[in-house]
Amino acid sequence: MATLQTIKQRFGIVGQSPLLHRALSTAERVASTDLSVLITGESGVGKEVFSKIIHSLSHRKHNNFIAINCGAIPEGTINSELFGHEKGAFTGATTDRKGYFETYDGGTVFLDEIGEMPLDTQAYLLRVLESGEYIRVGSSKVQRTDVRIIAATNVDLKERIQKGKFREDLYYRLNTVAITVPPLRERKEDIFMLFRKFTVDVAEKYHITPVRLDDRAKLLLENYNWPGNIRELKNLAEKVSILSEEREISAEQLLDIFPTIKDRHLPALTKNGKEDQGLQEREILYKLLFDMKSDLNDLKSLIYELIRDNDLQVPDNNTLKTLTGPVLERDLPSRSNESRSNYPGYTYDHEEDEEYEEERTEEDLRPMIIREEGRDQDEYGSVEIIDENLSLEYHEKNLIEKALKKHNGRRKDAAEDLGISERTLYRKIKQYNLQ
Ligand SMILES: Nc1ncnc2c1ncn2[C@@H]1O[C@H](COP(=O)(O)OP(=O)(O)O)[C@@H](O)[C@H]1O
Ligand SMILES: [Mg+2]
Repeated sequence: MATLQTIKQRFGIVGQSPLLHRALSTAERVASTDLSVLITGESGVGKEVFSKIIHSLSHRKHNNFIAINCGAIPEGTINSELFGHEKGAFTGATTDRKGYFETYDGGTVFLDEIGEMPLDTQAYLLRVLESGEYIRVGSSKVQRTDVRIIAATNVDLKERIQKGKFREDLYYRLNTVAITVPPLRERKEDIFMLFRKFTVDVAEKYHITPVRLDDRAKLLLENYNWPGNIRELKNLAEKVSILSEEREISAEQLLDIFPTIKDRHLPALTKNGKEDQGLQEREILYKLLFDMKSDLNDLKSLIYELIRDNDLQVPDNNTLKTLTGPVLERDLPSRSNESRSNYPGYTYDHEEDEEYEEERTEEDLRPMIIREEGRDQDEYGSVEIIDENLSLEYHEKNLIEKALKKHNGRRKDAAEDLGISERTLYRKIKQYNLQ
């Protein structure tokens, strides 16, 4: 049995979301049987990809596969397309013609948009499913076929049944195995991974450097609701890769190329004036948040660089909190808070820096905090540091001295004021030779 990982690799499937994994493992389990499968999911989620996976993992893999879009074939010709016709069956039927069920005998027939299938065709399909029998249009001879049916729909078939547009018996027959492919907005964790895959694919194809998104652009991607799902994301990734002159894409550039990404990640628009105003306010708030996040990241990068460039000792995280505020803590080199506080004298070094960088590129989903290799130095140009002593050690020592003085040497109170443990303070006193 193929593992999910090998299936994903083989079919170029990207994603880690549990919902995707569940759908894939159902596909894998049902593949070796002849059961019909009904794949449900919005447009662009990967239903057709799933049908191909099932076919390729089945014993029919050496026979043919065909995908038929029931919504795209005119009502008048669909029976003839599927079941074939006899010469003279209708005006224009000048020769006999084989239908797909005959041509693809032994293989797999994927019936996309099954909800659009006309009622009479549904009846003929049900017969194929129940007995493998069908009749060419204009003939009376019963023929047999051995096709596996995989159907897909992006509409609620139960609703179609209620409206009298879909046969209930066919529904139950098709739905022997149901696979639901989740929409992209329900697997947000996959969005950026997919984006990266598509940009790398385009870059390889056109021999260009893959584009990268900055934090705010990533936020836009993640908060958009993706009505066209993966197809839409793929389209965007290709568009951005080709149209943008830059390789580092900002939120503004992304909006330039794909303006809808902003509008539609907000709750549905209404014509109501009051709502519009609410939306505008919300947009302004979003923008403010974006800007704040960006400023915060610049600040964090700066502090981080100071620590790194001066090869400073980074004490336990409590001290760090005092020095830089709680935001920095989250963004320290990839050690969990726990493990960091277990190493009170933990020194941050460049090797670990590399380790962090690598981890980031692999995960890529984590907001990027540390300045990237090759990113323009000017980005931090607005921060001028001239004579001031910026050594953390120096300031830390100063702060500790002040705190001790303020509390008349009472370590417990000084430690509390500094936001560090007494034990850490004790260690610092020894380290800096304070008394
Ligand atoms: N998990 C996935 N990883 C990578 N590409 C995917 C994935 N799912 C779908 N795609 C791609 O997205 C596009 C739309 O998929 P498709 O199967 O045609 O969707 P649907 O049939 O649901 O409309 C295709 O180009 C397909 O290769
Ligand atoms: Mg499709």
